Amino acid sequence: MSVVTETKRVTVPEIRARKNAQPVVCLTCYHAHTARLLDLHVDLMLVGDSLGNVMHGLETTIPVTLDMMITAGKAVMRGSKHALVVVDMPFGSYEASKEQAFMSAVRVLKETGCGAIKLEGGKRMADTIRFLVERGVPVMAHVGLTPQSINTIGSFRAQGRDEADWGPIEQDTLAVSQAGAFSVVIEAVAEPLARKLTGAVPIPTIGIGASNACDGQVLVMEDMLGLSPRVPKFVKRYGELGPGIDKAIADYAAEVRSRAFPGPQHVYPMKAPKG
Ligand code: KIV
Repeated sequence: MSVVTETKRVTVPEIRARKNAQPVVCLTCYHAHTARLLDLHVDLMLVGDSLGNVMHGLETTIPVTLDMMITAGKAVMRGSKHALVVVDMPFGSYEASKEQAFMSAVRVLKETGCGAIKLEGGKRMADTIRFLVERGVPVMAHVGLTPQSINTIGSFRAQGRDEADWGPIEQDTLAVSQAGAFSVVIEAVAEPLARKLTGAVPIPTIGIGASNACDGQVLVMEDMLGLSPRVPKFVKRYGELGPGIDKAIADYAAEVRSRAFPGPQHVYPMKAPKG
């Protein structure tokens, strides 16, 4: 008899089928408890390499390792049972060759149990995307602003605000779609370009700072909850959790110092003597 418990997760083909349909709701997630909360509301959780900034206080995502991504991916899988979980491939884990990308992706899929991986890059990654997809690795692509390229692009600036710059981003988006990506994140591009890209490909475009012309949206969860000290212009804050956490911790500190906590209700009583 099988002892496997069935969990019905959103699948890659289901996300792929959301082109020109109900918008795809995505948020980043790195942690089991938040995964449990997000799971009730989102279609897709992205274990983004933004965890380097958010969880580890890094300036860029460059130092993030495959092991860091796998640890977070496992936590998010343990905390969720509905959403499709996509894990980002960190800088250095996939660019050297198609084979390197495959071996890294295999580790991510086997060790986390997630449903797909994401990687940054357009035309230059098309052969790799094709290679992965042909071998059973679903790929979400990422074009426009690609934070892992920070050392070559110099700053995290919006892309395509001048129509003369659209060409390469259009070519990137077409290339990843033709290579077999099931969806593509479009980061920080001007609205008319996002609209054009979305109309040009048969796969869902997931915007972050790319307007509601896209087929879905993703935000970094800590940014939209008001936990991140600095956020890009495109972030809407749906909560202000920072002050609430600050107050809770200040109250705790004061009660520990005054010995008001722990109270009698938080203490284990002795067992009644036997006999
Ligand atoms: O790492 C990340 O969180 C991402 C999103 C910003 C799309 O790639």
